Formats: sequence, structure tokens, C-alpha cells
Amino acid sequence: MALAAAGEFARAAASACAARGAFRVALAGGTTPRSLYEALADPRGPWRASVPWEKVHVFFGDERVVPPDSRLSNVWMAKQALLRHVPIPEAQVHRMRGESPDPDRAAEEYEEMVRRHFRLSFAERPRFDLALLGMGEDGHTASLFPGGRGLEEKERLAIATTAPVEPSQRITLTLPVFNAAAEVLVLVTGAGKGRAFARVRAGDPLPAARVHPVDGTLLWLVDRAAAVAAA
Ligand code: 6PG
Repeated sequence: MALAAAGEFARAAASACAARGAFRVALAGGTTPRSLYEALADPRGPWRASVPWEKVHVFFGDERVVPPDSRLSNVWMAKQALLRHVPIPEAQVHRMRGESPDPDRAAEEYEEMVRRHFRLSFAERPRFDLALLGMGEDGHTASLFPGGRGLEEKERLAIATTAPVEPSQRITLTLPVFNAAAEVLVLVTGAGKGRAFARVRAGDPLPAARVHPVDGTLLWLVDRAAAVAAA
């Protein structure tokens, strides 16, 4: 799954940089994407040399409200697995301020930064070249959880929300943002995700099932263990 995802990432990066001179990607957190990030950073692999890292702008789909040097932080994981190993200019890594004592304000600041970066008018949404997402065993994605207040947000680009698992305080991009992306890649591994994946395929409106780019492509990369468990 990681190697297939790395190929998709590299293809999307090359295409965006050729077309627009930059690649703007929203990274997923959790543990699943770590193997993808490590594959991209691997100097022995084909992707570290092929991705125009100096043109890559990294954003985050969500973040835990923890310090950026916490092992629970999504930006910490991305730095360990990828960002410290490739030449992305520091100014092009746009992290959510998980250390903020005011997550609502941190979400507003992130939204303002995204609006500035994408030069958005008020009603516009950012069109990420690629949004990476994972899925929890309950069918959540980013930090949009079943029954969570963030799931129905239609206006805001980024909000503070709570998770039923620790760390419970989160900052997340909203469904309209993921659904405005040019490409969305959902990464699912492990038998534990089988039930949620089966429910997504059956049409249950789980958060992960509500990711449908309005004008873009959606690719689910599911490993054998999850696919067999979903059968
Ligand atoms: C997070 C992620 C979250 C993750 C799923 C799957 O901050 O944890 O954004 O949505 O993708 O919980 O997590 P695993 O990859 O660890 O199974």
C-alpha cells in the first residue's frame, strides 16, 4: 500500500509542479501514512529524487492539540518520517499550532493562513493538489468523527473539535475542504479497519464515506488484510 501510495504522491507532485509550479498537499496523521512518508524519503527509493521537494507546500488535514515535539503530534510524525529527510523549505511546512492554549483561535489562524496562501475570496475553498486521509476503525477521517460537530460544518475551512479518543482536543480541516481537492487518497491498512471499510462500501454515511471530491479524483488504497476483513 505504501509503495502504491508513494507512486501516486510522486505522480501528483510532478503533475502539479509542471502545471502550476507548486504542489500543495494536505498530509494525513495517525500511523498508517508513516510507511508512505518513509518510502518517499528513502534515498534508495525512486521517489526521493523524483519529487521536486523545493516546490512542495505541506499542510495538515488535522492535528492533535499537543506540542509539536510530542510523539502524539501529526507534524512530529511527518517530520520524523519525511520532512527532516527531504529539502522542503521550512517556510513551506504549514503546521497547525497544536500547542495553542486556544484551539478555536489556532483553527481560525490556520484558516486565515490557508485563505492567504490560496488567495481565496470569502466563499472560495482551497483546491489542494492532493489530500491524504486515513480512516479510523469507527469510520472517522482526519478529526471528523461520527456524530461529531465538525462533520456538518459547511462554511469554515478549519475548526477545533473533540475526539472520543485521546488526545481528545483536535484541529481539523472540514469536509468541504477535502471535497474541493483535485485528488484525495484514502489509506487503509489492517484487519481492524475491515468493518468500517465494509460499511463505507455498503454506503453507510460514515465520515470517511462522505469524502467525495466535487471536481477531483478519489482513490482508496486498501491493503489485503483490511480488504479480506471487509469481505
Ligand atoms: C489522526 C488522523 C486520523 C487517522 C485515523 C487512522 O490524527 O489520528 O488524522 O484520522 O487517519 O485515526 O489512524 P491510524 O492510521 O493510526 O490507524
